[in-house]
Amino acid sequence: MLNNLIIIMNVFLIHICRGKTKGMDEIKMNYLLGSSDEELGRLAFQHETWRPEAFDLWDRTGIKPGSSVLDLGCGPGFASLDLANLVGLNGKVISLDLSRKFLNHLNQVATSNGIKQIQAEEGNVESFVLSEKVDFVYSRWLFCFLRDPGKVVAQVAVNIKSGGRIAICDYFALDYLLFPGAPVFDRLLAAVSESWRLSGGNIRVQQSLPGMLEQHGFKIIELMPITRIARPNSAHWNCPKSFWKVFIPQLVSKGFFSQTDSDEFWIEINEREKSSFAILKTPTLLDIIAEKL
Ligand SMILES: C[S@@+](CC[C@H](N)C(=O)[O-])C[C@H]1O[C@@H](n2cnc3c(N)ncnc32)[C@H](O)[C@@H]1O
Repeated sequence: MLNNLIIIMNVFLIHICRGKTKGMDEIKMNYLLGSSDEELGRLAFQHETWRPEAFDLWDRTGIKPGSSVLDLGCGPGFASLDLANLVGLNGKVISLDLSRKFLNHLNQVATSNGIKQIQAEEGNVESFVLSEKVDFVYSRWLFCFLRDPGKVVAQVAVNIKSGGRIAICDYFALDYLLFPGAPVFDRLLAAVSESWRLSGGNIRVQQSLPGMLEQHGFKIIELMPITRIARPNSAHWNCPKSFWKVFIPQLVSKGFFSQTDSDEFWIEINEREKSSFAILKTPTLLDIIAEKL
């Protein structure tokens, strides 16, 4: 009975501005990596790999049982599910994403695990409105895809409580390093960078977000860079590899990277995987924690 009441109240709590259908379709096309089953699997593996860092960030941000959290650009909701366990039955997680398919996945997993404190909402992070402000906003690997991150920060500013905190984990630099090096690896980085720029996103978005947050009334609490030195066949090696598997075919089909380069790239990676000397430095992420004044 109480649970039903909570669910009904949740339905009324959020009013997402869904935008006109055409606008949503245009925005959907902008999410570079799409929502294929392969991308869903990649996001699952990526979450598993970076899960300890996510819990650590939530802890430093102050998210606790009873908190209300907005998971912006939640994707299939792997982080939302962990957040739901963290905030407990007295808390709430609002999971917002453009992809109906990803949200269906989240709803199915939440339902089959009896998790009721998640409210999955289809909408655009640029134009959402909550009827009740939240304690926390969490966002991971969303801002690098956005054409206008400042607009999203402005939306967050009006939907978070004064004294509430935002925690953002995203890319600070595309500073991969492969040892022993290979020229085709450098050509891949140049192709990723160029395609990302032309899609309207910014793979180095965390360099500009602290300033944007301050412009919208946030105080920066913490800036923490994160990188890993991965050995072949470890999770931190295989995680970027799963990204290349999804993304390189797109780069080839759009003409940013040739099929010959793609073949050469995989030969080089296979060789590194047989060597006990190989090392991969992952691109630097930055955790930002900021508080609304
Ligand atoms: C790389 S995924 C990250 C998913 C999740 N945050 C995680 O860490 O696993 C990026 C997500 O952002 C969503 N997205 C991109 N642009 C968006 C927008 N304008 N509004 C809402 N969601 C958006 C995509 O649909 C996708 O699910």
